[in-house]
Amino acid sequence: MVSVKKIQKVVVLGTGGTIAGTAASASEQVAYTAAQLGVDQLMAAVPGLDKVLDGRQLLVEQVAQLDSKDMDHATWQLLACRCAHWLAQDDVGALVITHGTDTLEETAWFLQSVLQPHKPVVMVCAMRPASSDEADGPQNLRDALVVSAQPSAAGVCVVCAGVIHSARDVQKVHPYRLDAFSSGDAGPLGWMDRGQVQWSSVYARTALQTATLANSVMTFDVQQWPAVEVVLSHAGAGRRVVDALVQTGVAGLVVAGSGNGTVHHVLQAALKDAEQAGVRVRLSTRCIEGRIVGSSRWPDMAGLSPVKARISLMLELLAESSV
Ligand code: SIN
Repeated sequence: MVSVKKIQKVVVLGTGGTIAGTAASASEQVAYTAAQLGVDQLMAAVPGLDKVLDGRQLLVEQVAQLDSKDMDHATWQLLACRCAHWLAQDDVGALVITHGTDTLEETAWFLQSVLQPHKPVVMVCAMRPASSDEADGPQNLRDALVVSAQPSAAGVCVVCAGVIHSARDVQKVHPYRLDAFSSGDAGPLGWMDRGQVQWSSVYARTALQTATLANSVMTFDVQQWPAVEVVLSHAGAGRRVVDALVQTGVAGLVVAGSGNGTVHHVLQAALKDAEQAGVRVRLSTRCIEGRIVGSSRWPDMAGLSPVKARISLMLELLAESSV
């Protein structure tokens, strides 16, 4: 009897970014417009595509086409729905998502928190536009496809400049250089070495979110998602921002504290008042590396950056409002 190997599919979802950007000339790497080329055009530029697919079937879908500085909750909702749709298909082995670098870490954390996928979801980007004669997108896409085929891979990760980062730890740390991302103290999940993946550790699988949360994220009108904002503690900080946010009915506040999560006393007083008024307050740090140690006035978010802590608090409040 001949055994028929089931052909696995890999689905590449396009959302825009510099990886899909174009400039007026091939030498231009700064003055360009993001999100111009379709995901099918990006795939056509991947070197050795057939070899890297190695028999897997490639499907592409353009979910959005934007500069990721303009990412919004409605696009996140749509992207989560499309990811859930494809991940539910037995013959889909992995997803790859092309995305701008500017808010990539937020989308990665959002998708990981909501979907907790058991299949690999590999996010990929570029620092130079597709029209550049030194474009980094095609190689990054090739690497992402290799990572997406790894049997040990699961969950959302980010591939850029030959480095594989977890959704939880990745942060953009440089505005221009090709290797623009860091996983800080945690370190990357792995690296590309002569076209092969070298893992530094296995993918960590965090606790599964309830199906209720995923359902709420995908079905609630995004206007009903709890309003959560980030406020910054700094020299001379006042209370105006917090008071104004409370007035507008904010549901949660993440304070980006200085150092080990310290908060200016004036801002702290405003946050205590906000809490009294029913606003959920969480603490993070402005420090780019490390995490808050010791006890603090408000629960910290276990080392999440302020923008990722905002997402986690929003999802926490959303989960509570949907039970
Ligand atoms: C974007 O984030 O969409 C533009 C910048 C980039 O991708 O590097």
